Amino acid sequence: MTEKKTALVTGANKGIGYEIVAQLTALGMTVLLGSRDPQRGADAAKALGVEPVTIDVTDPKSVAAAAAFVESRYGRLDVLVNNAGIAGGWGQLPSSADLDEVRAVFETNVFSVITVTNAMLPLLSRSPAARIVNLSSGVGSLAMMSDPDGQLAELPASAAYVPSKTALNALTLQYAKELAKTGILVNAADPGYCATDLNGHRGFRSAAQGAAIAVHLATLDADGPTGGYFNDDGPVPW
Ligand SMILES: NC(=O)c1ccc[n+]([C@@H]2O[C@H](COP(=O)([O-])OP(=O)(O)OC[C@H]3O[C@@H](n4cnc5c(N)ncnc54)[C@H](OP(=O)(O)O)[C@@H]3O)[C@@H](O)[C@H]2O)c1
Repeated sequence: MTEKKTALVTGANKGIGYEIVAQLTALGMTVLLGSRDPQRGADAAKALGVEPVTIDVTDPKSVAAAAAFVESRYGRLDVLVNNAGIAGGWGQLPSSADLDEVRAVFETNVFSVITVTNAMLPLLSRSPAARIVNLSSGVGSLAMMSDPDGQLAELPASAAYVPSKTALNALTLQYAKELAKTGILVNAADPGYCATDLNGHRGFRSAAQGAAIAVHLATLDADGPTGGYFNDDGPVPW
C-alpha cells in the first residue's frame, strides 16, 4: 500500500478527462488514465508520463479487470472520476427519438457509472478520504433548463444526452446519501461548454478549464460538501 494518493479517471485518453489526469498528476497524485482503447490509452498516458488502464465502462468484465488491476498495484483507490461520456444523438427530439440511441447514451452516461463506482467502492473504502466525481453538465439542471429566460432556453430539446445528465445528478445524490457516514464525498461537476470532440469543438472553454472543477471536487477537504452539483462559480441549481 502506498501513501501517495491514487486516482482513476475514466475516458481520459482525450478531452476533459485527459486534462483532469494532467492536473491531478501535477498535484502529486498517482493517476491511472482510463481508456477503452488500449492503444489510445497508451499513447495518452505516455504523453502525460502516467500509467494507462484499459476500461470500457459499458463492459462489466473490463471494469472488473480494471478494479483487479488497481487492487493488485495499489491496494486502494482515493479518487474516482467518472468522466467517460458520449453525446449520442444530441439533436434528436423526444418525439422522434431513436430509442436504441437513447439507451446507448444512458448506458454510458448513467448505468456505467453504477458499474464502475460499485466495482471501485471496495477500493475506495480503504482510503482514509475517498472522493467520487461524476462529470455532469449544466444541461442536466432542470432548474436552468426550465427557465424561459435562462441561457439554456434556446437549446433544442434532447431525448438522450440532457436527460442522461439529469439522471446522473440524481444518481450522484443517491450515492452521497448512501455513503454519507463513510467519509466518501460524492459530487457532480459541471465543466461548462468546452471545446472537445464531444461537441465538434464548438465549446468556448478549453478542456483544461473544464477539468478544474472536477479536480477541485476530487481534492476536497474532509469537511467539504457531498451530494452537490458544482461549476467554477459554486453550486449549480438542480
Ligand atoms: N465538452 C463539454 O462541453 C462538456 C460539457 C459538459 C459535460 N461534459 C462531460 O464531460 C465528460 C468528458 O467529455 P469530453 O467533452 O471530454 O468528451 P470527449 O473528448 O469526447 O471524451 C470522451 C471520453 O469518453 C470516452 N468514452 C466514451 N465511451 C466510453 C466507454 N464506453 N468506456 C470508456 N470510455 C469511453 C471516450 O473514449 P474514446 O476516445 O475511445 O471514444 C473519450 O475518452 C463527458 O461525461 C461529457 O458528457 C462535457
